[in-house]
Amino acid sequence: MHPAVADALDRWNAAHPWSHDDLYARWLLRRLPRAPGTTLDVGSGTGDLVRALAGRGARAHGIDADPRVVAAARDVRPQVPGATFAVGDALDLGGRRYDVVTAVAVLHHLPAEEALTRWRDALGPATAMLAEVRECVARVLPGARVRRRLFWRWTLVHRAPA
Ligand SMILES: C[S@@+](CC[C@H](N)C(=O)[O-])C[C@H]1O[C@@H](n2cnc3c(N)ncnc32)[C@H](O)[C@@H]1O
Repeated sequence: MHPAVADALDRWNAAHPWSHDDLYARWLLRRLPRAPGTTLDVGSGTGDLVRALAGRGARAHGIDADPRVVAAARDVRPQVPGATFAVGDALDLGGRRYDVVTAVAVLHHLPAEEALTRWRDALGPATAMLAEVRECVARVLPGARVRRRLFWRWTLVHRAPA
């Protein structure tokens, strides 16, 4: 990015603080069913998306590799019933199945093909996976819809067959 553009963005962000990741969390929420069932947010950070999903009635679980981040997510008040957090590895989901798997700003930390494969395998039948993406989607998730978005983001929608 040109330094002048980077400077302008820095100034704009300082004056109007917001997060790209919040923006894409809202994008995810708009695409989920009103009653999302069981959900897993991988790399859940301080847990905003998990709390939003629990606020919609989901049994919403978030995992993150960083214990300090998980502790911070658990400390957020008011607590939202149905929102739970644990330290966990995005590549080892313990064989559990979920109706929805989400990941925001996480895939670039991981081996993409392995991560997408693990997350796909954590979905029950006829469920949805919504994730930020980079590469190798076509091999792992044929038919998935991938779109380039504003602010250097990609989105992916994959629906498991019924
Ligand atoms: C950029 S933050 C995004 C946090 C949150 N999803 C959000 O949108 O605010 C990336 C998160 O992924 C977590 N993470 C990185 N590698 C991970 C792994 N192998 N397993 C689980 N979490 C991981 C980091 O600890 C960090 O909290």
